[in-house]
Amino acid sequence: MKRLRRLSLTTAMASLLAFSPAAIAQTMPTKDSPPLATLAQDPVWARADALVRQMTLEEKITYLHGLFPPLTKEKHADMIPSAGYVPGVPRLKIPTLRESDASLGVANQVEQRKGDTATALPASLALAGTFEPELAYASGAMIGAEARAKTFNVLLAGGVNLTRDPWAGRNFEYLGEDPLLAGMLAGESIRGVQSNNIVSTIKHFALNAQETGRHVMDARIGEADLRESDLLAFQIAMERGKPASVMCAYNKVNGDWACENDFLLNRVLKKDWAYPGWVMSDWGAVHSTVKAVNAGLDQQSGQELDKQIFFGEDLKAAVAKGDVKPARLDDMVRRILYGVIQTGLIDNPTPASEQPIDYAANAKLAQLVAERGSVLLKNQGLLPLKKTAKRIVLIGAHADVGVLSGGGSSQVRSVGGAPVEIPLNGGEAASFVRVTWHASSPLKAVQAIAPGAEVTYIDGKDPAAAARAAQGADAVILFAWHWQTEAADAPSVALPEGQDALIDAVAAANKNTVVVLESGGPVLMPWLDKVGAVLAAWYPGQRGGEAIANLLFGDANPSGRLPMTFPAAEKQAPRASAPGWPEQAAIDDARRAGKKVDAIKGFPVEYVEGAAVGYRWYAQEKLRPLFPFGYGLSYTSFTYANLTVEGGAALKVSFDVTNGGKLAGADTPQLYVTAGKRRQMLRLAGFQKVDLAPGATQRVTLTVDPRLLADYDVNAAGWTLPAGDYALYVGAHAGDAALPGTATLKAWTGKP
Ligand code: BGC
Repeated sequence: MKRLRRLSLTTAMASLLAFSPAAIAQTMPTKDSPPLATLAQDPVWARADALVRQMTLEEKITYLHGLFPPLTKEKHADMIPSAGYVPGVPRLKIPTLRESDASLGVANQVEQRKGDTATALPASLALAGTFEPELAYASGAMIGAEARAKTFNVLLAGGVNLTRDPWAGRNFEYLGEDPLLAGMLAGESIRGVQSNNIVSTIKHFALNAQETGRHVMDARIGEADLRESDLLAFQIAMERGKPASVMCAYNKVNGDWACENDFLLNRVLKKDWAYPGWVMSDWGAVHSTVKAVNAGLDQQSGQELDKQIFFGEDLKAAVAKGDVKPARLDDMVRRILYGVIQTGLIDNPTPASEQPIDYAANAKLAQLVAERGSVLLKNQGLLPLKKTAKRIVLIGAHADVGVLSGGGSSQVRSVGGAPVEIPLNGGEAASFVRVTWHASSPLKAVQAIAPGAEVTYIDGKDPAAAARAAQGADAVILFAWHWQTEAADAPSVALPEGQDALIDAVAAANKNTVVVLESGGPVLMPWLDKVGAVLAAWYPGQRGGEAIANLLFGDANPSGRLPMTFPAAEKQAPRASAPGWPEQAAIDDARRAGKKVDAIKGFPVEYVEGAAVGYRWYAQEKLRPLFPFGYGLSYTSFTYANLTVEGGAALKVSFDVTNGGKLAGADTPQLYVTAGKRRQMLRLAGFQKVDLAPGATQRVTLTVDPRLLADYDVNAAGWTLPAGDYALYVGAHAGDAALPGTATLKAWTGKP
């Protein structure tokens, strides 16, 4: 089986290479499938095609629209509550698609499958914070294995939208603000998921960058800007991960819904990138039959969430009428089967019943990601804490019982259950989200690591009481939280519910205060100067409590780096708050008061920063953030030396990294290049995480993908990099030009 699988994957890859976008571009009109004669040489395509030829019209149509199990009226003996179900064709061994969310583990929102728990990874931001593609692969392989063992064969993973706004609700599900980092890690995670002979998606294509008005907003951006930012992240991820399916987004992009967007689906994805798999819609993102089909959407998902079933009888009628060509109908089915064959799913059907899972082993991986991805932001000699401490006080965020998780379709009901769950009062998220804690108690973990200490917990609701409890303690660990969820943006990145005042009061009572942030992105820190240390633990997942204890007491040396810029003030970001937020908040308030009001109307969001996302924006606007992209401290220290730069056709940079401290630790040196004739931008061009013993030196060589430096030229329809001198530096973060240099590069052009 294994050999077969490898064979089919390799041939799939080889065939992808053979069908270069340029070759297909010459023969393929935007709205049609690749020419049969060339694709037929691809064995995966040929096998899919042979199956399509044996399917009846009814069978084809059935495979093109998926059910939403919680709402569907259809009955299927093997359907369980989850995100999706698409009946297969048993006589042809075409598998039923059993779909589950998502990137952080096998989700089970509001415990729709009673008692079904799974391993919860930390927020994807923690994974991004590791800067370790290997951990992305391992995490994907782990959650994919759990999905399969739970009889799912499509994991709706691969969230890779770039963080454009620090308050955006789903930032925690994504991999930060840089196309290279996000693309590499998403690609590896998808590759890991699919190593289990199941399908992974990549999502949400494209520009689903805010939650406010996500079903109606129109994301507006120029093509070149889009290609050099969000699309580049997708492109890199897809080249590495080869996801069998792409999920199109809810929002509009430049006037057209993402799921009926000819430019995004037919032109970019299927023509320029020669994508052979299928485009599935997000749940409730379809608005038409003929337009969507002809614009490149292959499958309607969760049909009960759309206004109607567009890809059932309507589609059949559209084919009969000639509005959709029979060849396009076959193309849609063939693309789904391509993914089902390419991943090895067709030859390795998912088990009919649940299989055992080694949760203890998987929890270790969740903990490792939390340990390697948490970011130490400040440490004035307070950390690591001493295990010989006499009295330690923990404050806030239910740290006695667990750690916070992000809300939405990605919500995993983790092993051990949810010690705290708070329902929402109104808003779109209320129907499928509760504020949920994983059962990983920091209190217990601290007690275990410092068994001689008196360790107590106080909830922090009363700042004066918390300050009194903190007085005289050897260390105070204050847990600050900022909850984020799908379907709602945060009103602000300031800590809510008076937490700034709580931190002020506690820090005034005891300077040995470390703030542990549980957040889905940046927060403002008006109290930064007053506390001894700050650790950004994100939403740290199933074993977050243990990971935090290990980091604070030095059993793990912090090595995470920020995958997104932390602003010093909200006004530094391109938009201080979510466009549409006041309107949406007023609607939610009115509904809470029992009034019937219309949903928010469509509105444009102009992405004025264009491709200058995140740190690129801060560099362009000459803004000094609170903490820059790539930043993170360690209990040891690193230096860089001996830079060599090889220019010419491809940029290659080498340098030495030395651990000059007394502890083993890991560092992530980063290469930044300023490039762009169309739009000059600072760009992350490479990075590598290195583990070093005290005193050890390692030489690192980074080879740069020229697209990271190039302009996207809309007129030439491709990448262009002019010959010339390019300023670069190697440093510890985006603002650290530790080793400056110059590269002299030859001109280069590349296909889109
Ligand atoms: C989300 C997707 C998710 C789908 C199925 C949608 O609301 O945007 O990310 O995969 O639901 O649960």
